[in-house]
Amino acid sequence: MTVGILLVGGFGTRLSPLTSKTPKPMLPVANLPVTEHQLLVAKAAGITKVVLATAYLAETFTPYFGDGSKWGMELKYALETEPLGTGGAIRNAAELIFDEIAENEPIVVFNGDVLSRHNLAAQIKLHQSSSACVTLHLVSVEDARPYGCVPFDETGRVTDFLEKMDNPITNTINAGCYVFSPQVVQEIELGKVVSVEREVFPELLKARKVVQAFVDNSYWLDMGTPKALLKGSQDYVGSRDFIVGENSNISESAKISGASAIGNNVTIGANVEIISSIVRDGAIISEGSKLESVFVESNATVARQTHAKGAYLAGGEIIDLKL
Ligand code: GDD
Ligand code: MG
Repeated sequence: MTVGILLVGGFGTRLSPLTSKTPKPMLPVANLPVTEHQLLVAKAAGITKVVLATAYLAETFTPYFGDGSKWGMELKYALETEPLGTGGAIRNAAELIFDEIAENEPIVVFNGDVLSRHNLAAQIKLHQSSSACVTLHLVSVEDARPYGCVPFDETGRVTDFLEKMDNPITNTINAGCYVFSPQVVQEIELGKVVSVEREVFPELLKARKVVQAFVDNSYWLDMGTPKALLKGSQDYVGSRDFIVGENSNISESAKISGASAIGNNVTIGANVEIISSIVRDGAIISEGSKLESVFVESNATVARQTHAKGAYLAGGEIIDLKL
């Protein structure tokens, strides 16, 4: 058995104002929270016990996910009163599972804002066969500057970990999914603010411990900006014009396209046009509005004849998202 920890406690600053009431991992991608997509990936790789490492807007996760039984999983919630950083969060969350896991049982950690279709089962297998202390999923990107830059040698051993550098020395980056041996997690100091990217990984490498690279260039997206969130949702809606949840009412004269995602209990009036957008539950889009690449907040009412592009719509406000 393998257990998982999802890091869902960050502030999601780059997604503001979308994250003012909803933490980044609870934002909808094709009508499902990002966290739910990740739980499905974990489950497919045989992980059924997961701890959500929460901090910012922690209270929003439990009402949706409960004890996890709806997904055939066992979910627990760790809470940081102050965000402990990625390493501190992992250590804090692991307290809830240390007692229940075998000595060498790997702990799989996910950044809570990543959509990935990589072969997680193969990553876990590589971790076990290479006797690494940590195995990192890596992907190749065009611009590595906003990420952790991770060079490795011909045997697949990671040689350095360089978080967010101006002149990246390679375009393989940390994709934000790690398989840890439990001893490594145990060694992180409990209750302290620690970053895995800036402290734990560089220190392991300095101590000449085996950190293994698992390169898999399948679909991968960090949905940490409004532009990326809209793209992720469109990618998951796929080739359909749009998807719609339950009890929504769409006028026959409305046109919806561009892989839009319309939530539950949404009302869309006559002659409305919606392109490549996310409309959350309970929103009302009044007649004649034309919306493109917008994010409509839950229960928002969009006035008649509203024209908006690249914007966040809530409570009568239209905020430019600078896409
Ligand atoms: N619980 C908890 N507590 N979670 C946290 C905390 C914390 O204090 N700080 C960050 N997180 C969570 C965030 O919610 C997010 O899911 C994840 O940790 C990563 O934080 P981001 O803020 O999204 O980091 P990033 O995107 O700039 O960089 C990270 O991800 C890249 C890949 O997407 C790094 O891991 C990079 O190395 C990596 O390339
Ligand atoms: Mg991120």
